[in-house]
Amino acid sequence: MEVAKTIVSVRGLVKAARSKGKRIGFVPTMGALHIGHISLIKAAVEKCDFVIVSIFVNPVQFGTGEDFEKYPRPLEADLGICKKAGVDVVFTPVRELMYPSQNLTWVNVEKLTEQLCGRFRPGHFRGVTTICAKLFNIVAPDIAFFGWKDAQQAIVIKRMVADLNMPLEIVICPTVRRPDGLAVSSRNKYLTAEQKKDAALVYKSLQKCREMVDVGITDSRTIITEMRKILSRASSIEIEYISIVDAEMLQEVEYIAGRILIAVAVRIGSTRLIDNILVDLSKQ
Ligand code: PAF
Repeated sequence: MEVAKTIVSVRGLVKAARSKGKRIGFVPTMGALHIGHISLIKAAVEKCDFVIVSIFVNPVQFGTGEDFEKYPRPLEADLGICKKAGVDVVFTPVRELMYPSQNLTWVNVEKLTEQLCGRFRPGHFRGVTTICAKLFNIVAPDIAFFGWKDAQQAIVIKRMVADLNMPLEIVICPTVRRPDGLAVSSRNKYLTAEQKKDAALVYKSLQKCREMVDVGITDSRTIITEMRKILSRASSIEIEYISIVDAEMLQEVEYIAGRILIAVAVRIGSTRLIDNILVDLSKQ
């Protein structure tokens, strides 16, 4: 496994692999790798012949007062995980390489980024799409892999790729959960054991939603009320939003019909957690 620190070296390695007819898979990350990332890498290894992982804690997707400084950066452990998982190249650029001067060019997906997390994290998705566009331009992958836990991010990136005719495929992999249902996230590291127990209620609330839909309850207000009841069992949980939206344009819906995303964001102490499920009634 190679560790590339420069754009020239990544491009060189990709060019050499492509000249041998290899299909290039790419998993962009901010490091602090966990089993969720490993599942993305596994998918990339299965579908592609040459796999690149980037590790870069992207400053421009963090807002003021967010956790950019304290975001975990266990580089050695991350490199070990990548090697074991069969990665060919890990790209570890420094900030000056990705943002050498004041950034005047931004990629912004409209409308989709104004809903859900976009309401609470202004500028976040502009930071995500800008860094992904830069990374796609550097790595030039055939396929890039993202996790469904960050459903809005996945939907926004797919839209950017489609709208800007970027020549790659986006593959979205399922959310990986702990046995108690808590979605695996780098930010779980901030939680105490007690807070992790409380955090498992987030998925319980989503399961409750699915159960209600399964018995024919489709009224969003009724479902959100029941979900709130579950989350209120832990006084440590502060709900940021519970939204029921269509899975394409992310607009709130009164009733569940078609492909619907049920998304939750909470704060537990100073940690912000998100999770979601997709309900698809379009095939019924
Ligand atoms: O999901 C993440 O880890 C980040 O948002 C990403 C896609 C690597 C961009 O910095």
